[in-house]
Amino acid sequence: MRRPSTIAIDGPAASGKSTIGGLLAERLGYLYLDTGVMYRAVTWAALVRGIPIDDEAAVTALARQVKIEILRPTVQDGRSYTVLVDGQDVTWEIRQPEVNHAVSPVSAYPGVRAALSAQQRRMGRKGRIVMVGRDIGTVVLPRADLKIYLDATLEERAARRYREVVARGEQADYEQVLASVRRRDEIDSNRSVAPLRPADDAVVIDTTTLTIEQVLDRVLALVDDYGRGRRQSVANREENSS
Ligand code: DC
Repeated sequence: MRRPSTIAIDGPAASGKSTIGGLLAERLGYLYLDTGVMYRAVTWAALVRGIPIDDEAAVTALARQVKIEILRPTVQDGRSYTVLVDGQDVTWEIRQPEVNHAVSPVSAYPGVRAALSAQQRRMGRKGRIVMVGRDIGTVVLPRADLKIYLDATLEERAARRYREVVARGEQADYEQVLASVRRRDEIDSNRSVAPLRPADDAVVIDTTTLTIEQVLDRVLALVDDYGRGRRQSVANREENSS
């Protein structure tokens, strides 16, 4: 059966994109790329180098120059991948609250997006990939074979993020997590370049009341539908009819 070769999964913070994207890639034997990691890596590098987050020119120059590598896990400590910035392992550092706080402003800079999107598009061109982010279906891979947009209520997403932090053994306050997720939603959805929104040809799944298994089942059903020719992206339809 024919399979979608490029799969885009977008959605707001804690909508389940990364979990579902990773599981789907594993099931299909595809490469998994969580593009949020790249924005986080640039943000982390700016913070440790003392570059002010509001210095757009300096942060943009950094995004063009920093070397980000996403590898299979190099340490068995619960990570799903290893992230290197100029050779340094920052897998856990990029999940810290300081990075959470600064990453949305950094990812709103057009030059930062251009630098990272170009790298993401190069990886997407090879196919057999599940790419996860905010603008994959709309901007990075507008011709992706299958586009999925995962959503959930703000409260449910904050509760998931809270549980994740607690599970890592860190301190968390639900109200603070809620405020932080709300703030990121606002910045990600209202920025002028590549704002968070579903592509016109994306399938939207509300995951608020669904378990991970249920979401994965729905996504796998969409993959099967594609193979049976029941679902094609607009780009493909145009391509086939020309
Ligand atoms: O998915 P995440 O929480 O790790 O993403 C971190 C930030 O990166 C998020 O607030 C918005 C930004 N981002 C983006 O602008 N475009 C992407 N394709 C992925 C993430």
